[in-house]
Amino acid sequence: MRLRFPMKSAVLAFAIFLVFIPLFSVGIRMIPGRLTAVSATVGNGFDLGSFVEAPEYRNGKECVSQSLNRENFVSSCDASLVHVAMTLDSEYLRGSIAAVHSMLRHASCPENVFFHLIAAEFDPASPRVLSQLVRSTFPSLNFKVYIFREDTVINLISSSIRQALENPLNYARNYLGDILDPCVDRVIYLDSDIIVVDDITKLWNTSLTGSRIIGAPEYCHANFTKYFTSGFWSDPALPGFFSGRKPCYFNTGVMVMDLVRWREGNYREKLETWMQIQKKKRIYDLGSLPPFLLVFAGNVEAIDHRWNQHGLGGDNVRGSCRSLHKGPVSLLHWSGKGKPWVRLDEKRPCPLDHLWEPYDLYEHKIERAKDQSLFGFSSLSELTEDSSFF
Ligand SMILES: *[C@@H]1O[C@H](CO)[C@@H](O)[C@H](O)[C@H]1NC(C)=O
Ligand SMILES: *[C@@H]1O[C@H](CO)[C@@H](O)[C@H](O)[C@H]1NC(C)=O
Repeated sequence: MRLRFPMKSAVLAFAIFLVFIPLFSVGIRMIPGRLTAVSATVGNGFDLGSFVEAPEYRNGKECVSQSLNRENFVSSCDASLVHVAMTLDSEYLRGSIAAVHSMLRHASCPENVFFHLIAAEFDPASPRVLSQLVRSTFPSLNFKVYIFREDTVINLISSSIRQALENPLNYARNYLGDILDPCVDRVIYLDSDIIVVDDITKLWNTSLTGSRIIGAPEYCHANFTKYFTSGFWSDPALPGFFSGRKPCYFNTGVMVMDLVRWREGNYREKLETWMQIQKKKRIYDLGSLPPFLLVFAGNVEAIDHRWNQHGLGGDNVRGSCRSLHKGPVSLLHWSGKGKPWVRLDEKRPCPLDHLWEPYDLYEHKIERAKDQSLFGFSSLSELTEDSSFF
């Protein structure tokens, strides 16, 4: 008993010592998940950072019947799966990883989700390295990486009000009908700055009624005028394209798409036509959204607003904090200028950025080193009860 106090202080001193030798603490860290194999600094000194392996998400009992039919190999053509398409690039990688993680965590049958990931041919990290990183972060994920050739779209892109909107990969959604395997006849397209906090199967189960090609939450009270320039509205012919439909705003970051109808109707070409018009006469200021509004607004299957609580990135120019729209939440979307991982790293997060944080798998070297010492301390305290340690 007399030894207790001095021993505690010895342990404390040792723990403090540990804080300053992070290399040693790595050996005894006990946080769940391990460092992934890929944490490469790739060409041009581009550092992707490293990610911890996600926990294993398994199907519940109610899913068994479906997975019993399958061999170990899961096909990208399997129509019994939920198909999700997202882009994968070095800039938004942390967002894409968090988005995938959130879907797995909340899906009732996570093994029944298939991810179609689209990487740009000339990404500084290369599609192959990005693909390896996804594999090591999610060892049993069903996914396939497709390569997007930027030159398909680069000559069609006009400058927009925000640099990020000009990234060619931002236009990959226009080409899903061509990029994805022809056997994929329906897909949910999602931006990389989202998290899903509900079962993605519910969104997948949305039916597209009539001859509708896409579904998305739509906003009929938004002032539609501001998405196009006065040059558009004063043109003798262009506004006529909206006649006969009630155009409502919708965000293209969350869409359920019927790829069969999409391909049959050549919707990629319809979008490209508007991009060509934009090159000749500036008819809008935003990036990939306005062509979608021109082609689809008014003919969109309205999905519950809970599936796109958008705008959380804040204003397109100033990036101020936003709050949630009224009503329930199934998907949070940081569209706009600010991204939660950037604001969290800069220690000036918006209140809702903390909802994104639990899905982040990025390995913070300095902060984790501190956690590890704390773990070191607690395990050492236990050891003091067994005096053999000293
Ligand atoms: C989705 O639809 C399938 C087939 O109709 C049904 O079995 C399943 O329960 C639905 N899932 C959800 C989460 O609504
Ligand atoms: C919509 O915006 C335009 C221009 O920004 C403005 O002239 C018009 O009055 C607005 N309409 C409504 C209904 O607020």
